[in-house]
Parts: sequence; structure tokens; C-alpha cells
Amino acid sequence: MKKVIIDCDPGIDDAMAILLAHRCKDLEILGITTVHGNADIENTTANTLHLRNVFNIDAPVHQGAGLPLNGVELAYPTFVHGDDGMGDTGDVQSDASADSTEAEQFIVDTIRANPHEVTIITLGRLTNLARALTIAPELATLTKEVVIMGGAFGENQFRGNVSPCAEANIYGDPDAADAVCLAGWQKTFVGLDVTMLVVVDPQRQAKFRQSDDTACQFIGRISEFYNNFYTSIGYTEGFPMHDASAVAYVIAPELFRVQTGPVRVATNGIAKGETILNREPAREYVEDHWADIPAANVCIGVEAAGVLDVYEHTILGP
Ligand code: BDR
Ligand code: CA
Repeated sequence: MKKVIIDCDPGIDDAMAILLAHRCKDLEILGITTVHGNADIENTTANTLHLRNVFNIDAPVHQGAGLPLNGVELAYPTFVHGDDGMGDTGDVQSDASADSTEAEQFIVDTIRANPHEVTIITLGRLTNLARALTIAPELATLTKEVVIMGGAFGENQFRGNVSPCAEANIYGDPDAADAVCLAGWQKTFVGLDVTMLVVVDPQRQAKFRQSDDTACQFIGRISEFYNNFYTSIGYTEGFPMHDASAVAYVIAPELFRVQTGPVRVATNGIAKGETILNREPAREYVEDHWADIPAANVCIGVEAAGVLDVYEHTILGP
């Protein structure tokens, strides 16, 4: 069993990812931490508690950061995920409370208690991870791997979804993302380069809605809002499965092709949030902000049908 912590901002596709991790017999969810992003932190935490209930997950939920490291709140993408961050179906309700330990402390405690055994899967902004690193810089060497849904490196022509050069999770806290890049952990970016190719078509969406499993029905219901957003911006074949693709990478990395090299994040200016991979680390540049930066894996190719099959078979059964 691979032990995982899921750091997330539900979020319709976060919900899909959490269900995949929960139903995968090879993964053990040690805890779920929440972060601001698709909605404010109160909403993303309430949504996570609701998901824990609907999906019947036996793991603690820990609330995390409500603002990026620079303290400046950004507008929430209600047009993508709804006012409640979960498709405005009216389903979300939870009387439960998050665990009293804050997300960053939970991450530190869990990694220290399970050295070299835990994979952290991040599905939102990297604020909690950056804050955890400031408490315990040794996390970078004690964590098995960090798998990040975030970034866009220009492969397959995908460069950004909130600006021409920035992906939402990185743009939402570029200082945190760059801090994560500077640390020496094993890390893999599952960015738009691959997630935009993993498209859930209307046939698969119908299977979720028509399933007799309440968790799958819930995914079917909330993803209608998500699908409508993508239809409105010209995607007629369905919606891209961002966050669950990062979980799929942990389950079946052989479905992805990676390139390795140092990654930095532009933290301000017109390219704010751009993730930049130095593809020629041996070359001597006049100005080199990538020198001596630990390498990351960047997903540059994916067997999209394979990932979609993993998703469908894991949540619906073979
Ligand atoms: C990412 O942004 C969020 O809206 C999604 O949940 C996903 O994590 C995609 O850019
Ligand atoms: Ca997300």
C-alpha cells in the first residue's frame, strides 16, 4: 500500500481525485488537507468534509491556508466550480468539523512519523506545503515524493488556463510554488501538458450519473457544472480531468512520459505563475536562476485512454 496525503481545494475535479484515491486498493489515505483555491478555505474544507461523508472515507481532514503566502486574496473561479466550489447542486452539507491540527502541522507530523514512506499529492495551491517546509525543512528529504497537479510547460501547446502562461494552482500562490521547487524533494508535475488530454467524454459522464453507486452519482451530478464551463469555452468533447490525473500518476506512472530538469516559477510580472523547466541544465547561461536547483519530473506525455480506464474501473469496478 502506498501511503498518501491529499492536499486539495474541492473543487469538482478534486472530488473526482479523492474518490479515485479512496477506491484504489493500492493507496492508503493518511489524511486530507485543505487549501484556498477553487473557493474560500471555509468552503473547500466544508466540501472536503462532505466528500468524506459521501465517499465513506475514514481519514482525518485538516484545514489549511486561507490566503497565499503574500496574504493577498484572489477572486475565486465560481464560473468553473460554482459559488460553493462544488457545482452548486445544493447537495453539500456537513455538520462535521475539521480536525483541530492545522494542515501544515499535520503534514509535518505525518511525514516525520513515516519517514520516506509518504507521497503528498497536491491538487491545489502549494501554500500548505510551503508553510510545512518553513516549519520543517527536513521534510524535503523525509517525503517519498510530491506529486503536483499544477503548471504548464508548453508541451502539446498547453501553456496556461488563467493567463497565456500560467496554470491556476501555480498562479494562485507562485511564491509557494517556487519554494516547493527550490526544496530537494522528489517531485513530479502533472500539469496541463497532460491533464488537458485526459478528457471525460459524455459517454463516461453518463456512466457515472447512471451508476447505482451514490458516490459515482454524486460525481456525475457535480461534473455537469464543470462540463458546462468547458463547453462554454469551446471544448465540445467533454471536460479535462486535471486532479484525478495526478492521482492516476501515483497509481500507474507507466502511463506517463516524463522529462527531468530544474523547474522555477515566475513569481511576479506579466508571466506570474509560469512554470519554467530548464531543458538544458548543462548549458551555461548569462543569467541562470536554475543553477543548482534540484531536478523535478515533468509529465510531457500521457496515455489518456489508459488513465481514463484506470479512473472508470477503479471507481465503478471492472
Ligand atoms: C486546477 O485548477 C483547479 O481549478 C482545478 O481543481 C485543478 O486543480 C487546474 O488548473
Ligand atoms: Ca484542485
